[in-house]
Amino acid sequence: MRLLDPAQQPDAIEQAARRLADGGLLALPTETVYGLGARADDDAAVARIFAAKGRPSDHPLIVHVPNTEAALHFARAFPPVAQRLARAFWPGPLTVIVPREPSMATAAAGGHDTIGLRCPDHPVALALLNACAAQGVLGVAAPSANRFGRISPTRAEHVLNEFEDRGQGLDEVWVLQGGACEVGIESTIIDCSREHPVLLRPGRLTLAEIEAVAGEPVQWSKPEAPDPKAPKASGTLLSHYAPRAKLSLLDDVHLAAALDVIEPELTAAEIREPGQAPRVAVYSRSVWAWRAKHRGVVHLSMPGDAATAAHDLFADLRELDATGVDLIWVEVPPADAAWDGVRDRLTRAAAS
Ligand code: TXA
Ligand code: MG
Repeated sequence: MRLLDPAQQPDAIEQAARRLADGGLLALPTETVYGLGARADDDAAVARIFAAKGRPSDHPLIVHVPNTEAALHFARAFPPVAQRLARAFWPGPLTVIVPREPSMATAAAGGHDTIGLRCPDHPVALALLNACAAQGVLGVAAPSANRFGRISPTRAEHVLNEFEDRGQGLDEVWVLQGGACEVGIESTIIDCSREHPVLLRPGRLTLAEIEAVAGEPVQWSKPEAPDPKAPKASGTLLSHYAPRAKLSLLDDVHLAAALDVIEPELTAAEIREPGQAPRVAVYSRSVWAWRAKHRGVVHLSMPGDAATAAHDLFADLRELDATGVDLIWVEVPPADAAWDGVRDRLTRAAAS
């Protein structure tokens, strides 16, 4: 494990780019979440990502590029709708799926004939991608830097925690420090490889914002009713983003009722074994009178606005998980579109 910090080491970006150019693994910050990167044009380097994550090798990865021109190297075609979206939202939290140039990034694409491309809006990521390009590395394949199916990392420390106890024979993961990720949930993914654009994963950009730029309706392929034409891909699996504890989504009425049921039990447990870890954590926007009553329950507040909630979501779930609780009860997010990304991640975390 090695942490490279551009704020402390003037040559951190250079070292990181060399690491990637040499075929090594490097976790990099982006504005969404940290990615676990390898050069996209090197199938052996990309294979190390799948091994480190424990991810099935037919699940395609996103290739990160410093600009649209670099993206074109990986694309057999860049349809007009992808062009419009890239022009409007790059650099930014948007991934477009386009037909893949057959000679490029086969392993990164999981063997599919399409490829996911994204230009991230993070100064460290962009500096790194430009330094890579200067060394002949056109793109960096990077899934979120967590073990398969687990919570995505939004801070360098999360990545260090994910990979500190590596099994024998796995490559060392280096981490490039970039601070806390501003967006906090993964990019919005739009499949532009078909006749009409399809939303595969919601993120900070809302469907309405995407449609306004696409100039046509965008269909949403939801994980509970997956589009049969979409490839099997982890970001679109119903069960994903899972904490160790069992997570459930409850509306405020059911949450209050559930807490009334467990309260006597918890009190008894506390009397029997003082200092015992609480079994239940609650993550909710509402602050109720029961908070004072339920001393045995860990409580963390979910921010009241969607952008802050997304920013904090994965760090808060990690914090709740780290308390050792068995159950995490989460208040369902509001129904409006700004919360689509947060609701999507919580729904999948609850499905595990
Ligand atoms: O914000 C993000 O997108 C982060 C940062 C690191 O850029 N990356 C990320 O990667 O979330 P990952 O691998 O955890 O999720 C990428 C998802 C895949 O699981 C899959 O759903 C979709 O992108 N994807 C990638 N290539 C695809 C393709 N050719 N066809 C369909 N889906 C694809
Ligand atoms: Mg992921």
